Amino acid sequence: MHPQALPNESDERPGLAGHASRTEAFDTRARVQRFSHLLVGVTNLDRSEAWYRDVVGLDLLGRDLTAEPRAHSVLRMNTGQLVILAENPSFDPIPRCQIHHAFMLTPNQYRRAAERLRQLGHEIGDTHDGHRAVGEYSIDVADPDGHRYQLQTYGPEAFQVMPGEGVVDCGPAERYAVGDVRAFKTGNFFLVRHKDGFLAISKWCTHMNGMTVYQPHYWQFWCPFHDATYDRRGMPQPYPGNRAGGPLRVHPIVFSDDGRVLVNTDEIAEDRTPMALAAGVR
Ligand code: FES
Repeated sequence: MHPQALPNESDERPGLAGHASRTEAFDTRARVQRFSHLLVGVTNLDRSEAWYRDVVGLDLLGRDLTAEPRAHSVLRMNTGQLVILAENPSFDPIPRCQIHHAFMLTPNQYRRAAERLRQLGHEIGDTHDGHRAVGEYSIDVADPDGHRYQLQTYGPEAFQVMPGEGVVDCGPAERYAVGDVRAFKTGNFFLVRHKDGFLAISKWCTHMNGMTVYQPHYWQFWCPFHDATYDRRGMPQPYPGNRAGGPLRVHPIVFSDDGRVLVNTDEIAEDRTPMALAAGVR
């Protein structure tokens, strides 16, 4: 597990739900806007009460305040909702990766939570290190009985255009056959040779900034982070639930006097028409 970076500062509530669903595709009827209380079974009330009070920071209201027949503690979140810890000594510890509760925070709330957990001695790391889109952050915390809570946020950097790396010389145009797709690491783009010319397509997914890959068997670009797919012109594949946030961006192309393909990765082109060499495509 690697130490995790923090999101850029922002008080904006992310428009995406857990696992980065698209806002418009996310069914608000299924979304829990507010709940009244969460009942959590614990094996040792003293131990868990201290954890929810001191680590999570909930206000302890008192014990045995409700009709719950088991010994219990009532704690309050800063949103007014209650967490009720009910003691059940025979409760089996929860295996990791079973049900968890996820909370979507603003980037600044997330930064504060990470700092607080660090100060309390928790290692803040990401078990998905290297498998998250740029700007996607998550912390897992487990209570003494293994109840797992996930804190999530999406920083503003998830939606920014990623910086380019200047003009990239892709070599002579004549070396590319129709149908070729070549991936360039410098500047993070694909050079695609269509019948009607070249397109330089950015690898950065437009859902968030995940890095897409080319799938030759499907003739498409795929983002492994939340499964967005795009055709060979960078257009989102037309099926419900595709998380693509729009077409993949394209970079402007010029040809040198001796017919080399030059891609300017610092700029985004408005015109998505493939660039043909001279008057006709060779
Ligand atoms: S970053 Fe989410 S699908 Fe690409």
